Amino acid sequence: MGMSYIQIMAMKKKKVLWESLEPMVWYNAIYKNPTVWLKEIFLAEIEITKKLLSSGEKSSLIDVGCGTAELLAYCYPHCKYAIGFDINKKFLDKARELHPEFLRKNAFLVHGNALHLQKVLLKNMPQDFWKTERVVVLVMNTLGIIPETLRKGILKEMINLIGNDGILMLGCWNKNYFELGIEWYKRHPEICGELEAEDYDVENGTVKIHESGYESQWWSEETLKNLLEEYRGKYELLFIDKGVGIFAFLLPPNKRFNYENL
Ligand SMILES: C[S@@+](CC[C@H](N)C(=O)[O-])C[C@H]1O[C@@H](n2cnc3c(N)ncnc32)[C@H](O)[C@@H]1O
Repeated sequence: MGMSYIQIMAMKKKKVLWESLEPMVWYNAIYKNPTVWLKEIFLAEIEITKKLLSSGEKSSLIDVGCGTAELLAYCYPHCKYAIGFDINKKFLDKARELHPEFLRKNAFLVHGNALHLQKVLLKNMPQDFWKTERVVVLVMNTLGIIPETLRKGILKEMINLIGNDGILMLGCWNKNYFELGIEWYKRHPEICGELEAEDYDVENGTVKIHESGYESQWWSEETLKNLLEEYRGKYELLFIDKGVGIFAFLLPPNKRFNYENL
C-alpha cells in the first residue's frame, strides 16, 4: 500500500494543511461513512440553514470553508445565491464534480482565504448579490480548525458580510462530547495522523496531534461567548445545542427572526 498524505507530510516534517488536504479523505469520513452523531449534526445543519433562509429569493447563503459543498447542495434551492468559499481549490473542484446539478443554477464556488472574504466576494459576485440578505455559515467545526490567531479576523469578515439584515451561524462541536471526538480522531489517522494520549486535553476540548500538526478545538457556550465578546451588546447572540452540535447565531439589532422553532 502507498503512503498516505499524512505519512508523507509527517516524513517531510510539514504540517497537515487544510490548503492541500485531499477532499475525498474528508468527504469519506464525514459524509460517506459518518458516525451517527456526525450524520445527526449534518441533518441539524441542513434543517437550521433552511430556516435561516426564510426570506427565500431575498436571501443568499455563503458557506465559508465549504469543503465539497454538501450543505449548499441541500440548501441552494432555498435562496437567490448559494456561495461556497474555500481556501483549498481541490475541495472546490471536487464540489463541482460531485454536485454538477446546482452549479448550473444559482451557485458560485469561490476560491480564497476567509481572512479576505469581502474583498474576494466583491470581485466575484454580481451587483445584486449585495442587495440580498446574507446568511453566512461556518459549519462542521471549521471554527475549531481555524488557527486561533486567525479566528477573530475571519469572524470580523463574516460579521461585516451579514450587514444590517443578515445572520451569522457557527456550527460547532460541543466540548461536552469531546470523548466522542477522541474516538473519532483515533479512527481517522488518514485525516489527522496518529493520536497519542498527550495530544489532547479533555478539560479544554483541544487536540493537537504531534505526528501531523492537526489541531482542533471543541466548544462550549462559554468559550463561544468569549470569542464573540466584542460583539455582545451590538448584536444579538443566541446559542442552541443539537446533539453533539452547539450552534451560535449572531444577528444585527433590528433583525426580526423567529428562532423559537430552530
Ligand atoms: C472542517 S472542514 C469543513 C468543510 C465543510 N464546511 C463541511 O461541512 O464539510 C474545513 C474547511 O475549511 C477550509 N478552510 C480552512 N481554512 C480556511 C480559510 N482561511 N479560508 C477559507 N477556507 C478555509 C478547508 O479547506 C476545509 O474545506
